[in-house]
Amino acid sequence: MSPRTWPSFPVDAETLLEASRQGRSRAYAPYSGFKVGAAVLASDGSIHTGCNVENASFGLTVCAERIALFSALSAGAGKPLAVAVAGKEGIPCFPCGACLQVLAEFNGKMAIVLDNGGRPVVYGLEELLPLRFDLGRHRHES
Ligand code: THU
Repeated sequence: MSPRTWPSFPVDAETLLEASRQGRSRAYAPYSGFKVGAAVLASDGSIHTGCNVENASFGLTVCAERIALFSALSAGAGKPLAVAVAGKEGIPCFPCGACLQVLAEFNGKMAIVLDNGGRPVVYGLEELLPLRFDLGRHRHES
């Protein structure tokens, strides 16, 4: 797994990472105490933030990445190109497997931007989740 260069997107990686930090400031995490923010860059150039939202029934918690993604999709912002994730400052917060699967549904090659010592580091979704579940592969089975 190796960091990538940032493609020619309408917004730079540092701006997207900063937006994810702003998302983090709105996290609701009274149970774990671990705040996460995310920011999705869509193909129309807009940025959509999210934060983790926990619940007293722990399993109902939703991660920041999925909230940011669903916000972008529900706004009709186009294809998600990249997502930045901010956990504890300076420490890369890799998305969980569930979020990677959900992100891959809309762009299997999405750029993932993480905070590495205060600077953006970029990965490709396909390297973090190389073999995702793909229903299309099973449709023609008898
Ligand atoms: N969390 C996220 O928001 N994104 C991830 O990719 C991993 C974990 C949240 C869920 C929970 O509120 C807290 O972090 C601790 O697991």
